[in-house]
Amino acid sequence: MCTGEPLLLPKHSSSRLRSFFEKNQFRTGYATHGLFPYRGKFHPQMIKALINIMGLKPGDTILDPMMGSGTVPIEASLMGINSIAVDASPFCRFMTQAKYDALTISQKPLHSALKNSKTLFELFSKQLGLPVSGSKTRNGSRRSEFTGVKESITAFQSTLIDRFLGLIEGVDKDTLDFLLLAYLDSAGYSERSKRKPPIEQFQAILERYVFVVQKIQYVLEGSESILAKADIRQGDARKLDLDDEHVDAILFSPPYSFAIDYLANDSFHLNILGEDIERLREKMVGLRGKPLKEKYSIYIEDMGKILAECARVLKPNRLCSIVIGTNDNQLSKALGIPKEEVTGLHKIIIDFSKIRLRNCIKII
Ligand SMILES: C[S@@+](CC[C@H](N)C(=O)[O-])C[C@H]1O[C@@H](n2cnc3c(N)ncnc32)[C@H](O)[C@@H]1O
Repeated sequence: MCTGEPLLLPKHSSSRLRSFFEKNQFRTGYATHGLFPYRGKFHPQMIKALINIMGLKPGDTILDPMMGSGTVPIEASLMGINSIAVDASPFCRFMTQAKYDALTISQKPLHSALKNSKTLFELFSKQLGLPVSGSKTRNGSRRSEFTGVKESITAFQSTLIDRFLGLIEGVDKDTLDFLLLAYLDSAGYSERSKRKPPIEQFQAILERYVFVVQKIQYVLEGSESILAKADIRQGDARKLDLDDEHVDAILFSPPYSFAIDYLANDSFHLNILGEDIERLREKMVGLRGKPLKEKYSIYIEDMGKILAECARVLKPNRLCSIVIGTNDNQLSKALGIPKEEVTGLHKIIIDFSKIRLRNCIKII
């Protein structure tokens, strides 16, 4: 999947070729996983391993109630396992859907988009605003605001499709969303780095996106696997819109308390999607409350609600895997206690799970 080459090398292959495969075996960008550098995303290989450990079979359904960039639904789909994926952020829903659709998207319009990349960039930046080069620091905080969005996505989507139609034969909503994801990706790079002018950044990223699609579709055509369905939604993990005992497994990674401000990180993209960021903050786990102590206690309360929901929607005697870091350093500062005395987030989640998830817990 990584390279389009068979993974089992013939015995007589050269040591150079062998070392290429050894070096690249842990690369995480295969399929469409590498599109968009979302902070805190899973390693897809780990997800594949956990899905196997949980004993899922093709046709089963797995839930990720906090999907982020969609590693679980995309990996599950490649393994023939259906998924339901939820995130409070409309940008995560948009990004995951675009990455999932890219597994089967029509390639012809993408090649013609590549040929017209300069005009596309001009259209996008006129409608959506242009990021200011180097306006964001490496840790995500902003040095200055971007030049501003002219219209929200709902308002400009049909206008853009009309304009693209004259330029790209066969363009549809999936193509537009894929190109938009590439534009947002390049906008993020431009905010962080002044190395390339935004137009060159966009062209380079679009080229890579189209190459990724070509490569994964080539591999999928040659394999016998059938992509499973992913139901990708915007929603709240604390109150899932799912029936009781609906899914065969749950696999997710919640925010590590307040380690990352996902809204500040994605403000450019959320603005473009027409989202009211302050209203969204009310739903985001780990972002409510001031000072940090209060933020932390609201976070713990929210995690209790999420685990109760997981217990409700999971079929009896099935497994829920939660991937979480301890975050001891930040918590020790926020709570004003030495690092050694902080109860790690993993311990809190394990204790909660023993009560809420009873015997369907696997501690790794
Ligand atoms: C650690 S990230 C998940 C990353 C994901 N595993 C991936 O591979 O990209 C945690 C996610 O939780 C989401 N989130 C925060 N509060 C939420 C809520 N109430 N309901 C659903 N998702 C929420 C954030 O938007 C963020 O995308």
